Amino acid sequence: MPEPADRRYGPATLPRSRGPVSAAVLDALRRPPHDLPAGLGADLDPADPITDEDLQLTLFLCYELHYRGWRGVDEAWEWQPTLLALRAEAERPFAAALRRLVGAPPVPAAGVAAGLAELVAADDGPPLAATLQRHADLTQFREFVTHRSVYHLREADPHSWALPRLGGPAKAALVEIQTDEYGNGRLDRMHAELFRRTLERLGLDTGYGAHLDAAPAVTLATNNLMSLFGLHRRWRGALLGHLAAFEMTSSLPNRRYGNGLRRLGLDEEATRFYDEHVEADAVHEQIAAHDLCGGLVRVEPALAPDVLFGAAAGLAVDRLFAAHLLGCWAAGRSSLRPPAPPALPPKVSLVASPEVAPPALV
Ligand SMILES: [Fe+2]
Ligand SMILES: [Fe+2]
Repeated sequence: MPEPADRRYGPATLPRSRGPVSAAVLDALRRPPHDLPAGLGADLDPADPITDEDLQLTLFLCYELHYRGWRGVDEAWEWQPTLLALRAEAERPFAAALRRLVGAPPVPAAGVAAGLAELVAADDGPPLAATLQRHADLTQFREFVTHRSVYHLREADPHSWALPRLGGPAKAALVEIQTDEYGNGRLDRMHAELFRRTLERLGLDTGYGAHLDAAPAVTLATNNLMSLFGLHRRWRGALLGHLAAFEMTSSLPNRRYGNGLRRLGLDEEATRFYDEHVEADAVHEQIAAHDLCGGLVRVEPALAPDVLFGAAAGLAVDRLFAAHLLGCWAAGRSSLRPPAPPALPPKVSLVASPEVAPPALV
């Protein structure tokens, strides 16, 4: 029996299902590649795709095949035609919901960098960073970090999909940003590794994808958004816009996250990930707006609306994420999904164990 791959770097263990479609996909992935049942995607048209657990997990299951894959899952599933078709069926309502959410932000005469600055200036999201800085307790901070681990343990990877799709100034700018994200080639400086130390100091599992079951749909949506833009060449403008918005709204919140951890008594090892971003992203935001997005649009002017759409979508989904956390905390409950109910011991009848109440759904 070969040694399992290092849990730190993936592949992740398959998560639990959240509805009929994700259950069918999970069932299929556990077996050799084969055609999925016809009509499986017909159930994927929920009222709110961004917060629909079954749709977002289905997308995440499909997308992860292009990142680290899944533990024990045949790698040939990555390009299985019926799985790709199902993914497309899941992407349609998700993309439509994003468009409903943000519309088509106008491109100002001053150019795309000015448009990005306007979107960021108008972004009045719920005060998640200020809450974490001043009021959150350790349990809430651990929750926040748990949500973010889905992204930060593979930090920068979704935007790297753009590299082979670009040439010229935008490519040079993206390489400059990503080089920092990947620690200039030093493992201990990679942002994903800095974040791993934050998880460690907070006593949380540092395994890649270890917290997927705890991450609700809106958290998966923040990740699926990047994969949607990253895995489709036609969305390269939106992907760069998303990165720009991310970098332009990073420096101050990261200062607040670091201060919040210090307030709670955590040490420099725990705050390094956030401290690093205060400086780095103050630089990245300039590169991202002017050299990256400005550079792209100078070469491909038709992509300007997509750049602003990607930025607006990133900001809007992040607002939903922040609202979810703050809403749950205001109501006195966890923002994470509950753990799996304990397995019943053998020979105990389901009917005979009324004391095992299911956990409240978040
Ligand atoms: Fe980073
Ligand atoms: Fe950055």
